[in-house]
Amino acid sequence: MRRKLVVANRKMNGSLASNQVFLEGLLLGTQDYPYADYAVCVPHPYLFQAEAILKGSAIAWGGQNMSRYESGAYTGSVSPRMLTEFGCEYVIIGHSERRQRGHDTDLAIGERFEVAAKAGLKPILCIGETLAEYEAGITDLVTIRQLNAVIQELGIKGLASGVIAYEPVWAIGTGKAASPAHAQNILSFLRKHIAMLDADIANNIRILYGGSVNATNATELFSMPDIDGGLVGSASLNTADFVAICQAASNAYR
Ligand code: 13P
Repeated sequence: MRRKLVVANRKMNGSLASNQVFLEGLLLGTQDYPYADYAVCVPHPYLFQAEAILKGSAIAWGGQNMSRYESGAYTGSVSPRMLTEFGCEYVIIGHSERRQRGHDTDLAIGERFEVAAKAGLKPILCIGETLAEYEAGITDLVTIRQLNAVIQELGIKGLASGVIAYEPVWAIGTGKAASPAHAQNILSFLRKHIAMLDADIANNIRILYGGSVNATNATELFSMPDIDGGLVGSASLNTADFVAICQAASNAYR
């Protein structure tokens, strides 16, 4: 059975003071929930703080993006090695908030995934359809295209080091989460697609759901057989809410 993974995507939120309250609250709050894995992805300037507070604990941390280049004249960018120097285990790749603003193409995301894995990071690959694509009934086409962009770049074996997060764009920050049945349906479809290429990887890779996951809907979402946890935005800005989601994930394992 795959352990659930709950990842906080704090996006461009937080401050030294509020992060400290959140991270310390999380350390304390998750002590009784050891049956799932947890990670917090913070803005780059706060990585040193995440490392200082979380080091030696069961909670991992990571970045929200990184360059696809290893070093060089890329003003404003952060390299994979810089993330590992600050103890990051994870990095979010291809979030829709970056895809939509044109920062990330399928090709760039494939390259980023490869470079991240090579640096020893676990890339969290975000995929998901827009509202228009959902309404046009092409969710499977869109998500497979996004997934295949990575598989084509580094082969199916290369996918194994990462995590996939299905995040329908219409569910992000809207308070309208996908129904557990819809999310399960897509995740099962993605897993079957991976299984056609490699059954072991399909069985072991964690596929998360993201998009308005909250303390109320987490239990039902996590009860679905193919939903291996959540990528959580807004609800990760409140310690009690996020801890409740962690509790739901830990309980789902038993
Ligand atoms: P919300 O949980 O705010 O919908 O955000 C989801 C998300 O984008 C996580 O990456």
